[in-house]
Amino acid sequence: MTDLLLLPGDGIGPEVTAQVRRVAEKIAPDLTIDERDFGGLSYDRHGVPVTDEAVAAAKSARAVLMGAVGGPQWASAPRDRRPEAGLLRLRTEMAVFANLRPALCFLPLADASSLKRDRIEGLDFMIVRELTGGVYFGQPRGIEDLPGGGRRGVDTQVYTTAEIERVARVAFELARGRRNKVHSAEKSNVMETGLLWRQVVTDLHRREYADVELEHILADNAAMQIVKAPKQFDVMVTDNLFGDILSDAAAQLTGSLGMLPSAALGVPGSPGLYEPIHGSAPDIAGKGIANPLAAILSFEMALRWSLGRADLADALFKAVEAALEAGARTPDLGGSMTTVQMGDAVLAKL
Ligand code: NAD
Ligand code: IPM
Ligand code: MN
Repeated sequence: MTDLLLLPGDGIGPEVTAQVRRVAEKIAPDLTIDERDFGGLSYDRHGVPVTDEAVAAAKSARAVLMGAVGGPQWASAPRDRRPEAGLLRLRTEMAVFANLRPALCFLPLADASSLKRDRIEGLDFMIVRELTGGVYFGQPRGIEDLPGGGRRGVDTQVYTTAEIERVARVAFELARGRRNKVHSAEKSNVMETGLLWRQVVTDLHRREYADVELEHILADNAAMQIVKAPKQFDVMVTDNLFGDILSDAAAQLTGSLGMLPSAALGVPGSPGLYEPIHGSAPDIAGKGIANPLAAILSFEMALRWSLGRADLADALFKAVEAALEAGARTPDLGGSMTTVQMGDAVLAKL
């Protein structure tokens, strides 16, 4: 059985994933690592953004780590064959419904944030994004021609009780091991799914998690509060689309989108899907200057959540912290290191 399946993907994906491989080979030489084409690269080579064989390999690995997918060269590929569609298929097939996106401020980076130091020093905030439902997958969807001319685009936001409950449960469980507070973000003031979301979270809280502090927050207000006073948050659970947007905002609090890892988890015992939250960054791809820390920290999460090696995860986390403490900075963090040099800096501290 493969321990870690790497899906480097497109753009800066292969650049940052290469640093994960170096770190993994040093810290855990016993791990078996395999690799598959993914995203635009897979489309170019195999006609689909993810092959059935790659999906099967992902489902039978202990953990999957993806770099990034997408890019302008595939913008006109059919919707169901675009690189992003491969990622959505993989998330569905792996049934990884809970996406943990931790926004954590490393002390040495407090000045790299766009917010003032006192607002983010000590920030440790976890977004739990629902990942396999909502408007990303709801039917009907499509663009149709209207008889009188013009076209009509449709997306459908849909959630069931079970989908909301299982992701909310993950948030409550996480909060119990942290500062015991959950914010649930939706738009119950305008959306039916938002109203159901609020009711289901409220019921679950009353039935099983009354010991955890729960606050409901409208998603637009959540966006504002994240950039105003992010330290008020411990765990925030939200739907697929809001979670996508709010986690990019939270990422910038930490200094750069290149810092934020994620873990997508399904039922216990099934493999997790680990991905930096950033994309393929076409504007810097090929220049060798991408920050590999979001990918390296995604591997840290894989060690912790899927590979049963919390000891190694702790060591890797400390090495990243020490590298930053020693001044390691890629351009997104205001420095001039290359991707490989940042990898070197972490390896040197391991
Ligand atoms: P992006 O995240 O790729 O880039 C946004 C900005 O952040 C760019 O200026 C980029 O240079 C910078 N950035 C991102 N990661 C960085 C890193 N590691 N180091 C330094 N700078 C970094 O978002 P985008 O430009 O909106 O999207 C580009 C493509 O990526 C699109 O095709 C999109 O669909 C795809 N995408 C994929 C994923 C994924 O694979 N998980 C996530 C987001 C976007
Ligand atoms: C992310 C990305 C993806 C998403 C895209 C590439 C499908 O933005 O992982 O944050 O929207 O989920
Ligand atoms: Mn995103």
